[in-house]
Amino acid sequence: MAKVKVQNYKGTRDFYPEDKRLQKYVFNIWRSVCERYGYEEVDAPMLEPLELYQMKNGANPDMIKDELYALTDKSGRDLVVRPEMTPTVSRMVAARRQELQYPARWYSIPNLWRYERPQKGRLREHWQLNVDIFGQDGLQAVFELLQIANDIVVGLGAETGMYTIRINSRKLVNKLCELLRLCEPEASALMQLIDKKAKMPIEEYDQKFNELVDGDAAMKSLINEFLAATSYDELPEELRNTDEAAELRQLLDSCSDNMMESVVYDPLIMRGFDYYTGFVFEVFNEDLENNRAMLGGGEYDGLVGAMGAEPLPTAGFGMGDVTAIDFMQSQGTLPELWNETDIYFVVLEGSLEAAQAAIRKLRQGPRINVAVDSTYRKLSKCLESADKRKIRYALICGENEVKSGQYQLKDLKTGETFTMDLDKIAQALR
Ligand code: HAM
Repeated sequence: MAKVKVQNYKGTRDFYPEDKRLQKYVFNIWRSVCERYGYEEVDAPMLEPLELYQMKNGANPDMIKDELYALTDKSGRDLVVRPEMTPTVSRMVAARRQELQYPARWYSIPNLWRYERPQKGRLREHWQLNVDIFGQDGLQAVFELLQIANDIVVGLGAETGMYTIRINSRKLVNKLCELLRLCEPEASALMQLIDKKAKMPIEEYDQKFNELVDGDAAMKSLINEFLAATSYDELPEELRNTDEAAELRQLLDSCSDNMMESVVYDPLIMRGFDYYTGFVFEVFNEDLENNRAMLGGGEYDGLVGAMGAEPLPTAGFGMGDVTAIDFMQSQGTLPELWNETDIYFVVLEGSLEAAQAAIRKLRQGPRINVAVDSTYRKLSKCLESADKRKIRYALICGENEVKSGQYQLKDLKTGETFTMDLDKIAQALR
């Protein structure tokens, strides 16, 4: 038979043990921070009916057009491999709108599929933490989400200066459009242009901007003043005196009062998704070579209502595993990750049967993971193998050890060796 070398599909990753260990490290931080704030884990199928993404205001229009993995099942049903979790959790809340307890605090870590051009930080399959709160009014909900986002990034080892949390208000942008008397489709065109400003050449932006303002000098200057603002105080005066700006100021004040120094106002944060209604935010890696969003979200009050249930205030965010790992790598915050196996138990030739009781005893102790090496290779080879797998400790067991009950435990990081009985070993590892 001809041999075929098959590679994994473009834009996806195989997870060898060391890769999975790294991903689990990120998941553990995500889980522990979410649970600290009282969020409960949920999950759902990877396949969804196509209609879920065809709803008005259902998702990011560009994503629907270009990025969906769509398929038809054997009975002719149109399905989609989920590109994001937000429509799914909204569907789940709508289905039990009356029974759920509010505010409902949910988190999930789904794998998502998007037909993207694979590049740094963007793959076709990624895992994404979703944190969503249903039935809590905007300001409080968003403040809580920003705290969670901040704690997660700090959990990834970040220090001030390595990241920014950039927030904006879609309501404030709507207000700007109202002041400019911009109706649809111009209002949406302006938001899309602002959304893409940072990603397009300046000449292209200028050309599109000039087409939009069509020679109206007052409009041009108000938009430019709005886009240049880096704080509430720098907003154009006409906007500063609105309720929308007051709400933004309150959120910024809550963040600075609570030591969240990395939160800044950024009028360019728009979020392409059609469902966001109020505050929107993104967390940026400030490493210049990786200066991209690693987390994004906002308020999306309309989505549960769009699924036929009574509407409720909703907000949430998503954070990808690829960008989280890139962040730690680019900022040098990645710790040394040890194997989940605590002890590499090396059995010397002829001692396997006698060693079984000791192996059993260690495994029965609280949370000690033991891998047995009974290959009877040279001891140095066994230790090298444990070291290569990032197992921290090796235990050497021959007949003498079984008889005396004293074992040599070798710390493969420092090279130190200790002689102890099994109880002491278990205690030391704990
Ligand atoms: P999003 O901005 O598309 O939002 O994704 C959120 C984060 O997921 C991004 O900041 C990035 O870290 C990561 N991400 C997105 N696409 C990819 C990709 N192709 N490869 C690797 N990482 C990626 C949403 O998906 C919203 N549904 C989030 C949300 C939850 N809004 C409310 N609740």
